[in-house]
Parts: sequence; structure tokens; C-alpha cells
Amino acid sequence: MARVAIVTGGTRGIGEAISLALQEAGMTVAANFAGNEERARAFTDRTGIAAYQWDVADYDACQTGVQQVAEQLGPVDVLVNNAGITRDGTILKLTYQAWKEVIDTNLGGCFNMAKAVFPGMRDRKWGRIVNIGSINGQAGQYGQVNYAAAKSGIHGFTKALAQEGARAGVTVNAIAPGYIDTDMVAAVPADVLEKIVAKIPVGRLGQANEIARGVAFLCSEDGGFVTGSTLSINGGQHMY
Ligand SMILES: NC(=O)c1ccc[n+]([C@@H]2O[C@H](COP(=O)([O-])OP(=O)(O)OC[C@H]3O[C@@H](n4cnc5c(N)ncnc54)[C@H](OP(=O)(O)O)[C@@H]3O)[C@@H](O)[C@H]2O)c1
Repeated sequence: MARVAIVTGGTRGIGEAISLALQEAGMTVAANFAGNEERARAFTDRTGIAAYQWDVADYDACQTGVQQVAEQLGPVDVLVNNAGITRDGTILKLTYQAWKEVIDTNLGGCFNMAKAVFPGMRDRKWGRIVNIGSINGQAGQYGQVNYAAAKSGIHGFTKALAQEGARAGVTVNAIAPGYIDTDMVAAVPADVLEKIVAKIPVGRLGQANEIARGVAFLCSEDGGFVTGSTLSINGGQHMY
């Protein structure tokens, strides 16, 4: 039977590419999203992949969402924690609200979703969890104390949960993307983006499917000996 995968934030950007890569690998995919129903509907029409709306920052909504996916598609074998947001600003301007939203979504979402799927994976002795971190969680970034802290936290979360899953056949890994051509990066002012690209050794932004291929490997049978690792896919920008 096909393995069932949930990709949070799986209807656009990097998440869309991940949903498609896992579908191509033969999995039954559920793509979660937060609120952009129009993009989610277009995604499902195009790909045939079911989209499910819930907020990963909401603990109870994650429990209910995972239960609904399991009832409709089967027990969840693969979780990709991809949903993420930015609320940038230097600490002088950053509000508590902007701090909390980013921590609750990017890092809290990983905990909420892992809590919902991990017990079943452990009982069935097979599971794959991939958390999408960021180069800015490894290197820090001006104006992103909230985002860098959340992403850095994801890398620690990954290594700790990997130790809990290891004996039960559940691998837990992270991918740290560099700058990838998605809506999130399109929101960066053009002059700032030009300076960013100038610092990427390969001389371009990454493509979403270049992250998705890494995720597909980590979620495959062949990835069974890889756990607690962080795969940097960043065009050589930060060698960590
Ligand atoms: N793009 C980059 O250069 C880059 C670099 C490093 C790391 N990353 C990380 O990669 C991941 C994907 O980034 P992206 O550029 O593809 O982002 P994006 O284009 O902005 O898409 C974000 C996705 O996450 C969903 N989402 C946001 N908040 C959510 C919530 N509370 N609950 C459920 N879903 C939520 C969105 O749903 P809606 O469509 O409903 O809004 C959307 O599907 C993020 O974790 C990001 O931090 C991106």
C-alpha cells in the first residue's frame, strides 16, 4: 500500500514542489495550507492532491487535521514540516506579536505536528519526518531574530527527536534551504535581493524542486540510515 505523507504548507512554493516529489515517489499526499483557498484549489485541480486547511500553530487543529487525513487516506508515515512565515524587523521595531507568530508557526508547528504523528509511526516501526529549516537559522540574518531563532530551534528539535525515533525506525532530518525562488523571496525588495544573489557562489536563486528532491530522498526507503542530519541546499552560500 502507498505510504501516506502530510506536507504542511504543501500547496504552494517549496511545499508544492515537495508534495509533487512525494506523489511522484508513489506516496499518497495530503497538502496542508493556512488560508489561501484559491491557491489550494488550483493546486488540487492541477495535481489531484487533496488539500487540508488548518493552522499548524494551533495544537488542537493539528490533532484534528492529522486524524482527518488518517481517516480519509490512511495512517501517516511521512511528515514534512514545511509551513513557515516571516515577520521581519530589527529588534528595535519587532513587536512581541511578530516574535510570537513566527515562533509559534515555524517552530511550534513542528512540535504540534510531530506530536500528532509520532506515536503512530513508532507503533508501526516506520516513519520519516523532515523539517524545513533555513540558512538563516544556521548563519543568522539582520532583521530576523524571530525567524532565525525559530529555524535554529528546528535544527535542535530535529537532532533531539531523531534520538527518540532511531530505535523505532523513525528518521528525523532537516533541510536548510538557501534563497529559493518563491513568493516568500519575491517579497524581498529588488535591490536587497540583488545583493543576496551576488553572495551565492552558484550565482542564482535555488528552485523549489531542488529542495523537494532532497526531501524525497530523506523520505525514501534508501534514506533509512540518515537521521539527525541537516542537509544544506544553498548554492554554496554557507558551508555548515
Ligand atoms: N523561499 C526561501 O528562500 C526559503 C529559504 C529558506 C527556508 N525557507 C522555508 O521553506 C518553507 C517554505 O517556504 P516558501 O518560500 O515556499 O513559503 P511560501 O511560498 O510563503 O509558502 C508558505 C506555505 O506555508 C503555509 N503556511 C503558512 N503559515 C501556515 C500555518 N500557520 N499553518 C499552515 N500552513 C501555513 C502557506 O499556506 P497558505 O498558502 O494558505 O498561505 C503556504 O502554503 C518555509 O518554512 C520557509 O521558512 C524558504
